[in-house]
Amino acid sequence: MTQRKPIVAGNWKMNGSFELVAEICSEVKKYKNLNVDVIIFPPALLLSEVVKNGIESGTQTISEFDAGAYTGEIQAQLAHELGAKYTLIGHSERRSIFNESDQQVADKFAQAQKSGLTPILCVGETEAEREAAQTEQVVARQIRAVIDKLGIAALNDSVIAYEPVWAIGTGKTATPEQAQAVHKFIRDMLNSYDKQVASSLRILYGGSVNEKNSESLFAQADIDGGLIGGASLKKDAFTSICNSAVGNV
Ligand code: PGA
Repeated sequence: MTQRKPIVAGNWKMNGSFELVAEICSEVKKYKNLNVDVIIFPPALLLSEVVKNGIESGTQTISEFDAGAYTGEIQAQLAHELGAKYTLIGHSERRSIFNESDQQVADKFAQAQKSGLTPILCVGETEAEREAAQTEQVVARQIRAVIDKLGIAALNDSVIAYEPVWAIGTGKTATPEQAQAVHKFIRDMLNSYDKQVASSLRILYGGSVNEKNSESLFAQADIDGGLIGGASLKKDAFTSICNSAVGNV
């Protein structure tokens, strides 16, 4: 069985400040040589500050276009030149508030890889979809949009984050068993395409992860770390979450 190195990713959304970068980065430095990849996704305007502090970082979204007349967009190539290593793709807030379609998400995934960024593809069902027993169908559709466009090999250098929409920012976390069931479904689905991709790809859980529930979530067989929103803005909570991921393979 492949030993997958856990990831703890902090998605600051449109929050944070120069002061917070300094505060969080000085803590995160401590994980450099430990068995966890800690990655900060600050607002784009703070990206260079995080890079300056020597911490792995990424953008929260990128444009699907190369360059040109796209006012306000974040260019993947430039983010990479600035020092970003990763980008979130298809976060549920991008899908719901900014109407990103599965197709657009696949285009952004392609643009990320073309520009040297590792995409973290976010997938997850809404509360209504879960109640209608459509969780697997929705998650499979969101992942298939990328596989259909780019082929399964494209997932080799990527990460998936399963984030049930009903658990994001609500304080309602999926139970470790609920999360594990979807993670296993994703891994089984990938396995039907390519066994090597399925066993090596890291699948993160996101949605109200905090210092109290991270350990039991990360202990699940198919959960390889977390994508943390609210708790990533609090130094003590975030470091406890990082601690619970260290060595959890
Ligand atoms: P949350 O956000 O941890 O605040 O629920 C997670 C996310 O949106 O990535």
